[in-house]
Amino acid sequence: MKLKTNIKSLKGSLSVPGDKSISHRSIMFGSLAQGTTRISHFLRADDCLDTLKIFREMGIKIEDDGQVITVHGNGMKGLKNPEKVLDVGNSGTTIRLLMGILAGQDFDVTITGDSSIQKRPMNRVMLPLREMGVSIEGNQDTEFPPISIKGGASISPIQYQLPVASAQVKSALLFASLFADGETTLIEKENTRNHTEVMIKQFGGEIEVNGKEIKIKGNQTFTGQDIVVPGDISSAAFFLVAGLIVPNSRIVLKNVGLSQTRTGIIDVIKNMGGNIEVTDVDKINESGTITVSSSELVGTEISGDIIPRLIDEIPIIALLATQATGQTVIKDAEELRVKETDRIKAVADELNKLGATITPTEDGLIIEGNATLKGNTVTSYGDHRIGMMLQIAALLVEDGDVILEKSEAVSVSYPNFFDDLDVLVSDKK
Ligand code: S3P
Repeated sequence: MKLKTNIKSLKGSLSVPGDKSISHRSIMFGSLAQGTTRISHFLRADDCLDTLKIFREMGIKIEDDGQVITVHGNGMKGLKNPEKVLDVGNSGTTIRLLMGILAGQDFDVTITGDSSIQKRPMNRVMLPLREMGVSIEGNQDTEFPPISIKGGASISPIQYQLPVASAQVKSALLFASLFADGETTLIEKENTRNHTEVMIKQFGGEIEVNGKEIKIKGNQTFTGQDIVVPGDISSAAFFLVAGLIVPNSRIVLKNVGLSQTRTGIIDVIKNMGGNIEVTDVDKINESGTITVSSSELVGTEISGDIIPRLIDEIPIIALLATQATGQTVIKDAEELRVKETDRIKAVADELNKLGATITPTEDGLIIEGNATLKGNTVTSYGDHRIGMMLQIAALLVEDGDVILEKSEAVSVSYPNFFDDLDVLVSDKK
């Protein structure tokens, strides 16, 4: 696909699509609850539609009237044995959280996904699940999908210190702990996104969170709820950066999710001197409006406990750093090596093809500022966030065309990404 290049200004306002993490979880909790759950502003993108399809395949009635998704929950152990292998597509959140949910059901099941999923590490979930008494295996003695789970296990609570900062692992173990007799204690390596904990309470359950320590009792039941999914800050991030680096720009993003566990990018933009303002904050729904405008930026260091608060935004933050004055160093982000693709390598290789100077390190990136970007052929590697980042980079290219291979990957989280960008290019008011 030939990308938009040489854009002189971006103006206008957008409401970004629903949050991916919250959309997945709303289907999962809705299915495990008793009664009806109504979900508004659900993200209709490949990843979340795969979650929806899988719960239908396990007998949950889910209706979609084009606006609201209605899930008719069947209780904690109410899933039915699917007739075939469950296929999560590209979605790491779906496969990892499902492992915790399926550990508590009474049937044997196999889960797989696309070629990227089949290379992603699953021992991080399987090892603690085995400690809880679950019989779970990867493909041919590896840790990789297809993953087979034996049903009917008697699940024991655990005390477990997570070796990786991962909301997916934490959430899988929280789901499994709901089927245990007794109390589970999890200690996080760093605080990660807390949507599962928030939803446990929202659906009428109990969970105790003290800093990095989480305590949760088994044998809980949930009641169906009305959920309004806020806009995804990880999708908003592409336009936040576009508004900062394209000259003569001002972009307003409405109804963006502002969970404190996800707003690391706002802190980084402020540290770099970017013009960013958060207004109309709705504290209950954790959402608000973010406005950005073209800015003079300075390089920064990004490391430590902020990393899980912006883990999915690092590709687009790397692009931001190429337009700052001075160097930006990103550390402690080794998790990027095992995302949809190796994002450390992908960011460095593809932005360098466009003229940036980025050195990959084992756990991050060293990015030189003041880069002048130029045309080339680049690839998303089938990774949605790499694809969208490269389109934002292309906006700055004055010399030559930018051709993006595997552009269709954006539909994993943001099917209307290119159309939404068009609105900002053409709306010059
Ligand atoms: C997610 C958690 C993060 C994130 C992913 C979604 C979630 O992964 O990268 O896009 O919904 O729990 P890890 O928790 O494995 O870092």
